[in-house]
Amino acid sequence: MVKIFPTTEDLAQYFGSLLSARICETPANRYFSWVLSGGNTPKMMFREIASNFRNNTDWHKVKVFWCDERCVGPDNTESNYRMARETLLKHIPIPAGNIFKIQGEADPVSEAARYSEVVSHYVNPNKGIPQFDLMMLGLGEDGHTASIFPENIHLFCSDKLFEPAEHPYTKQNRITATGKIINHAKSVVIIATGKSKASKVAQVINQRRGWDRLPVSLVHPENGELLWLLDQQSAFNIK
Ligand code: 6PG
Repeated sequence: MVKIFPTTEDLAQYFGSLLSARICETPANRYFSWVLSGGNTPKMMFREIASNFRNNTDWHKVKVFWCDERCVGPDNTESNYRMARETLLKHIPIPAGNIFKIQGEADPVSEAARYSEVVSHYVNPNKGIPQFDLMMLGLGEDGHTASIFPENIHLFCSDKLFEPAEHPYTKQNRITATGKIINHAKSVVIIATGKSKASKVAQVINQRRGWDRLPVSLVHPENGELLWLLDQQSAFNIK
């Protein structure tokens, strides 16, 4: 499903309401596993949630994970964890023990393995694979999602849950979720805003030439929901 909002603020309010409702629906004896995406797009979502969903959401029921991380320390301005901490986590009463950060400061290969183990331990499985309740994903201008870039699209088909990756231009080491866990989630919400995303959004949504070579096009939860949240600018070229 594709939802287009007049403004990014409207999109953020919708996402906050959706998340809060899903958490509220979670039975008292279960956790809600929420996977955060990185980059800049989520900042407005996180600020909206911190401002307007702080007190009406039972954050003790929520476990927070990441779909990817840059291999930098937690206080580095590049860190997805740092961004989430500053815009969201330090503003909501979520127990520290419910926050499962990727250790960007660790060795990428061993951290990908460790994080796969952490997720396997703390996230309820379905058919033997951890099943996240809601996973946020972003969209890069080259069609990447999480840290799976067109240049390393093979990572999407890994049999591991998380893999080390590399940014094709900056060569920055990354840790990324793979298609194995992305497409096993109950709900995947791809959020793309702004004019710079309009071309790729239209290429994927309208299945224009080359669309199937973009990592984001491989996101199709087997038994779950796929929701695209766009604003007028990112949806501008959709036919
Ligand atoms: C990351 C993200 C990445 C991001 C896209 C979009 O670590 O950078 O997880 O997949 O979602 O690159 O980034 P922007 O939101 O900054 O455009």
